Amino acid sequence: MFNSRIALVVGASRGIGLAITRQLLREQAVQRVYASYRHPGTATGLLEINDERLQTISADVSDAGDVQRIAAAIQANGDHPDFVINAAGILHEHDLQPEKSLNQCRQDSLMRLFMVNSIGPLMLARAVIPLMPRNQPGHFAVLSAMVGSIGDNRLGGWYGYRASKAALNQFMRTLAVECRRSHPQLCITAIHPGTTDTALSEPFQSNVKPGKLYTPSLSAARILQVVSDAQAEQSGHFVNWDGKPIPW
Ligand SMILES: NC(=O)c1ccc[n+]([C@@H]2O[C@H](COP(=O)([O-])OP(=O)(O)OC[C@H]3O[C@@H](n4cnc5c(N)ncnc54)[C@H](OP(=O)(O)O)[C@@H]3O)[C@@H](O)[C@H]2O)c1
Repeated sequence: MFNSRIALVVGASRGIGLAITRQLLREQAVQRVYASYRHPGTATGLLEINDERLQTISADVSDAGDVQRIAAAIQANGDHPDFVINAAGILHEHDLQPEKSLNQCRQDSLMRLFMVNSIGPLMLARAVIPLMPRNQPGHFAVLSAMVGSIGDNRLGGWYGYRASKAALNQFMRTLAVECRRSHPQLCITAIHPGTTDTALSEPFQSNVKPGKLYTPSLSAARILQVVSDAQAEQSGHFVNWDGKPIPW
């Protein structure tokens, strides 16, 4: 049973974010779910949901003005979200592909990865954490990735994606230290969802061991379980889909 009453899912158009949104709406205790998407064309699964508790907002996480508009939409209803999750992220996009070697690293691609995967979620935190309850339990979660672990990096490659997720983890850790004072019951978690069958992983699925490619709905259920189990004392952790800590 998930305890949130007012939730915000960013990057809810498809993949894991859409699956989380659907599962939240299955919970009777949930009163409202704000869900952001970027392009209506890829968000048909979200925009077709018929539930009066769902409020969709169009926003690109790499646009600070859009991120502010998410907060403004929540504020306009006088809501205080107790669960926020950023599921937006990129590994490949248009002509951006994960680098196999140093000479494939391009300044524009690296900046784009950091803008979407690291800076966007931090700007989201900046916009919405002031709306989260100060003295009640709450959770701010981001979808990170195992490959963002510096300690676990034995294979190399994927410079930009790895580094952008490592930066995201450091941002969340730093944020958790600050929020211990301002929001003592808020838990901040960076979660690796496990390799999930979405457009993001699709070009790389041939390398996945049998039984290790999970459906978006299974990953969403695991992520919500991790969030339900986590206590404020664990804020600032980087964890796997089963709740176990991942080395930095
Ligand atoms: N799938 C995996 O195996 C896996 C493994 C480890 C970590 N993750 C992480 O899990 C998260 C979700 O990935 P997924 O597998 O669900 O991928 P996905 O199906 O490709 O979905 C990515 C989501 O991010 C959104 N997005 C991308 N760039 C955005 C931007 N600039 N502004 C707003 N939204 C943006 C997409 O929106 P549009 O529809 O508008 O493009 C989409 O909703 C990502 O952070 C990813 O790094 C996934």
